[in-house]
Amino acid sequence: MRVLVTGGGSDIGFAIAKRRLAQGDDVVITASTPESLERALSRYRVEGLDAKGLVLDLAAPAQGDAALGEVLESGLQGLVLNAWTRRPPLHRFHELPQEALDADVAANLMGNVWLIRRVLPAMVSARQGRIVLVSSVSTVNGTGRYGAYILCKSALEGLMRNLAVDYGEFNVLSNTVRLGIFKTERTKKYWSRARYVERMGGVIPQGTLGEPGHVGEVLDPLLASHQYINGAVLDVTGGLPMFRLEGVLRP
Ligand SMILES: NC(=O)c1ccc[n+]([C@@H]2O[C@H](COP(=O)([O-])OP(=O)(O)OC[C@H]3O[C@@H](n4cnc5c(N)ncnc54)[C@H](OP(=O)(O)O)[C@@H]3O)[C@@H](O)[C@H]2O)c1
Repeated sequence: MRVLVTGGGSDIGFAIAKRRLAQGDDVVITASTPESLERALSRYRVEGLDAKGLVLDLAAPAQGDAALGEVLESGLQGLVLNAWTRRPPLHRFHELPQEALDADVAANLMGNVWLIRRVLPAMVSARQGRIVLVSSVSTVNGTGRYGAYILCKSALEGLMRNLAVDYGEFNVLSNTVRLGIFKTERTKKYWSRARYVERMGGVIPQGTLGEPGHVGEVLDPLLASHQYINGAVLDVTGGLPMFRLEGVLRP
């Protein structure tokens, strides 16, 4: 199967793409700029992995239409929506400047919506498609000062359920993977602090933060060509949003 993994240069995107390549899939990754695409692809080359790539900026996706069109012409059976812009500094919702909110929604919500709408016709006519949204446990626990993030992730989670209903009959199956707290470049400012790791480990039922490598295999059943999972949400959170009270009570 050919799979497009957006944000394939990120730690989580890389883990997903690496797993797909190991499963024999043809993998195309996206990056937001030519420079970050080159950085991302060199990460694959270092490990001897043969991924292809294209530039698709979620803030201006139509500019990547021609390159995406070439991928679609040769067939695309899997779409993993992993890319997400780095968040503006954390704000309570009313304090987030309107322009920052507009930019967040334009890229993360409408950029992903554009991509889904662009890919769906090819999947419908091939009668095969697997769409996986990489979402977050924040849509359930309402993480503080993540208003714009949760707004966009929740909207896409809702859309996944609609796609499951509207496109299931065409063997186009849409599911969500909700991640907990993972050690990635994005979150390094937190997990590089020993106290944060210790305290979060005390609260997370599994006792530890997630590693990107935990995510790859999780997508296997959702991307499998013969399966019956549609409109589902799979939590990959070490047990969150449930939490261990001992971790909170510990002095
Ligand atoms: N880390 C966690 O704890 C955690 C928890 C829950 C959910 N998640 C979700 O997991 C996914 C990956 O997270 P991560 O921590 O690996 O993120 P990350 O390190 O911030 O990587 C984000 C990826 O998105 C791409 N991207 C950013 N802006 C873009 C744009 N305008 N257009 C196209 N691509 C763009 C980046 O590509 P370029 O470098 O090319 O810009 C990069 O590959 C995200 O959807 C995130 O919400 C993560």
